[in-house]
Amino acid sequence: MARPLPNQTLARTSATSLRHFPGHSKPSPPLSAPAFRKAAAVLLLAAAVALPCAVLYRAAVLNALRPVQVGWDRRPWWEREQTPLAVMVPDEDGNVDPAAADYLDSDDLKLEQVLQEASMDNKTIILTTLNAAWASSGSVIDLFIDSFRRGVRTSSLLKHLVIITFDWKAYKRCMKIHTYCFALATEDVDFSQEKRFQTAGYLEMMWKRLDFLRLVLEKGYSFIFSDADIMWFRNPFLHFYPDGDFQIACDHYVGNATDLGNIANGGFNYVRSNNQSIEFYKFWYSSRLRYPGYHDQDVFNLIKHDPYITYIGLKIKFLSTAYFGGICEPSRDLNKVCTMHANCCIGLQSKLHDLRIMMEDWRNYMSMPPSLKRFGALSWRVPQNCSLSLLNQ
Ligand SMILES: *[C@@H]1O[C@H](CO)[C@@H](O)[C@H](O)[C@H]1NC(C)=O
Ligand SMILES: *[C@@H]1O[C@H](CO)[C@@H](O)[C@H](O)[C@H]1NC(C)=O
Ligand SMILES: *[C@@H]1O[C@H](CO)[C@@H](O)[C@H](O)[C@H]1NC(C)=O
Ligand SMILES: *[C@@H]1O[C@H](CO)[C@@H](O)[C@H](O)[C@H]1NC(C)=O
Repeated sequence: MARPLPNQTLARTSATSLRHFPGHSKPSPPLSAPAFRKAAAVLLLAAAVALPCAVLYRAAVLNALRPVQVGWDRRPWWEREQTPLAVMVPDEDGNVDPAAADYLDSDDLKLEQVLQEASMDNKTIILTTLNAAWASSGSVIDLFIDSFRRGVRTSSLLKHLVIITFDWKAYKRCMKIHTYCFALATEDVDFSQEKRFQTAGYLEMMWKRLDFLRLVLEKGYSFIFSDADIMWFRNPFLHFYPDGDFQIACDHYVGNATDLGNIANGGFNYVRSNNQSIEFYKFWYSSRLRYPGYHDQDVFNLIKHDPYITYIGLKIKFLSTAYFGGICEPSRDLNKVCTMHANCCIGLQSKLHDLRIMMEDWRNYMSMPPSLKRFGALSWRVPQNCSLSLLNQ
């Protein structure tokens, strides 16, 4: 999702290292050993404080979630008469205002409706999120949609795409260019501004999204979640594992789909709706309380070793960068690439610059005769303005 900020936008990669070096003076490689040791030290300290609460936090969090769960509204917040949460407080007898209950029901129905309309026969949908910063004409969202049209048999996937919008501008723009738009209720928080990477507002947006994805799973829909700065060139379904509940792309792939040493990138994942994945999303979301100040991707890389995941029986698969690449680690072979992510990128202008080059490369590849394609006569001209080495300067 958006890390948009004029001078200092980051992709969702290397987040951990960058947070440890707020001045960007010398970020370590993603999740380096020192970063892990540092995190481990912090965690030990936190555990001492948090352990007594450990039993309570899950119950508390799950209860706290319930009102949020019914607060989704396809209409944006500025068109709402009132905030539903205010009227959701039960009276002394524990009754909720029936008008409020109706209001919330209709909210929920709208989500059901958009999911049902966009769904494939096997209850699978494609989701992305959008805020104002990425919504302008010619910006990230246009490139995203364009990539489906120019990809190999990907244009038909557009009719299964639901764009989740965070603000008014994004919602308006979505309604202009796409069939399925859903305005995520954001209550009193305004997500329309470009969010500084790692600011409170940015984090809140990421966690809100994760909680929403949990709701989608609970409604029985499996999904591919894709950031909008990921170009789709081939149908990804052919490369998912038949036995993975949660499959996620990587900033760095170690060559083994089950090795937890893979560095995940939360920008692209395929999740099957089942008991394991629903419980995992609850666990992931509640883990934000254990790691305050971290965003969903960092917390994933921290909790992926947690025995609770083995306990619930969630099968995690990491997707190879040979098919699901990015600027951090490109899919080198254009005959294989499914998706390419503009991660490892500072600044929206740099991101757009490299995304456009990427699309140009793809158009050139598509116009080549089959023999030349097979020969591998073309390779990416990116990274240019985005790059890992830039991040490490
Ligand atoms: C769901 O349907 C789509 C479209 O037919 C297909 O590509 C995909 O593989 C199916 N997913 C599963 C899990 O069967
Ligand atoms: C892949 O990683 C898993 C988990 O670490 C390990 O059990 C397995 O042996 C590895 N496979 C190969 C081919 O190295
Ligand atoms: C989840 O678990 C319950 C109880 O064990 C079971 O009845 C239900 O079929 C499961 N649902 C899914 C989607 O696996
Ligand atoms: C991309 O990098 C080149 C060379 O450093 C620079 O001249 C150009 O202004 C950059 N463009 C953007 C959009 O950042």
